[in-house]
Amino acid sequence: MISVNPCSPEIPKARLEIEGMNAYSAPLEGRRKLLRLDFNENTIGPSPKVIEAIRNITSEEIAVYPEYKGLRKAFANNLNASLSLGSIVPNQIAIFNGVDAAIHSIFYAYGDRGKIFLTTTPTFGYYNPCANMQGMKIIEIPYEGRSFNFPLNQISLSLRNLKPKILIICNPNNPTGTSLEARKIIQLAQESPQTLIVIDELYEAFLGDSIIPIVNFDQTPNLIVLRSLSKTSGLAGLRIGFAIGHPEVIDRINRVTGPYDINSFAVTAAFAALGDQVYIDNYVAEVLKARSWIKKELSKEKIHHHLNSGNYFLLWPDQNPIAIEEHLKTSGILVRNMKNKHLIDGSLRVSIGTTDQMKLFLDMYKKAAKLLH
Ligand SMILES: Cc1ncc(COP(=O)(O)O)c(C=O)c1O
Repeated sequence: MISVNPCSPEIPKARLEIEGMNAYSAPLEGRRKLLRLDFNENTIGPSPKVIEAIRNITSEEIAVYPEYKGLRKAFANNLNASLSLGSIVPNQIAIFNGVDAAIHSIFYAYGDRGKIFLTTTPTFGYYNPCANMQGMKIIEIPYEGRSFNFPLNQISLSLRNLKPKILIICNPNNPTGTSLEARKIIQLAQESPQTLIVIDELYEAFLGDSIIPIVNFDQTPNLIVLRSLSKTSGLAGLRIGFAIGHPEVIDRINRVTGPYDINSFAVTAAFAALGDQVYIDNYVAEVLKARSWIKKELSKEKIHHHLNSGNYFLLWPDQNPIAIEEHLKTSGILVRNMKNKHLIDGSLRVSIGTTDQMKLFLDMYKKAAKLLH
């Protein structure tokens, strides 16, 4: 008989890299019914056409595995129409369970143990855990100066000297709003054919300088672009994102995804959202109006802030940022604390919604600041 000690069962060990990691933790609970200015989501919800399409989902559609036919084409058509192109075709597109899953798959397919992952700092928080999972060496180049300028010389130098396996540029960058001109990215890619250069364009709609119209994936197959329906289209809860690149790179990334990773609700919603570009354009226009308004007000009120492109800005309260954050939460408004983030510790990141939502935020912020003075 085998004797088992019930008091101290041995926990099976994961891979070495996983043993050295913590789970990615974001404050994701209890956010409903509040004004959510903490994750740069769409603050008014998706197009009514999306809601209608979801309501019309039949029991059969739920009972069978999802089908993806036509979705790549619908996304390609949407890109071609909104960027005045005709060149993007379905085999240049991969579909994912959110861009998070695209990032994960890119690292899974391309991220070798011991090889270099080059990125900037501060930036989106999910790149590094994916690099760590693969046992990559992470090199982070800081944004430069008080305006958080793009560290182009340092990135160029690192590409040349270190020959990283993967470089990710978040363009515009979350959370600094920093952007790098699309044509400069093409130049970097042409100079560094050994590196897979990933351009995370999640917030590009708020900037208007996509790389897609000027990239020729046959000439720069080492470039790949990420887009999501989470932010502008308001589908964050359904999870759908896309990668656009050379068909052979797309094929390699598809090799590491599951056959049914994206569920039928997300597919149905994506068709409806992509078919209502007017709704998305109107939302983006509303956010841009609100961005101009809040920028002016923050300067008028002499509130230390940094606002560039993107649907978000950083502000540095004179008071304890945690106390301000808590106070705002009790007033029904969520913002994201940038505590321990390189270069921006002490700041709060605030998402931009409609002008009315920004008015409410500023009112509540001023009240909190006065109370905590
Ligand atoms: C820069 C950036 N990339 C990717 C993501 C993840 O996007 P998705 O919701 O499509 O997974 C986010 C979400 O906040 C983000 O800010």
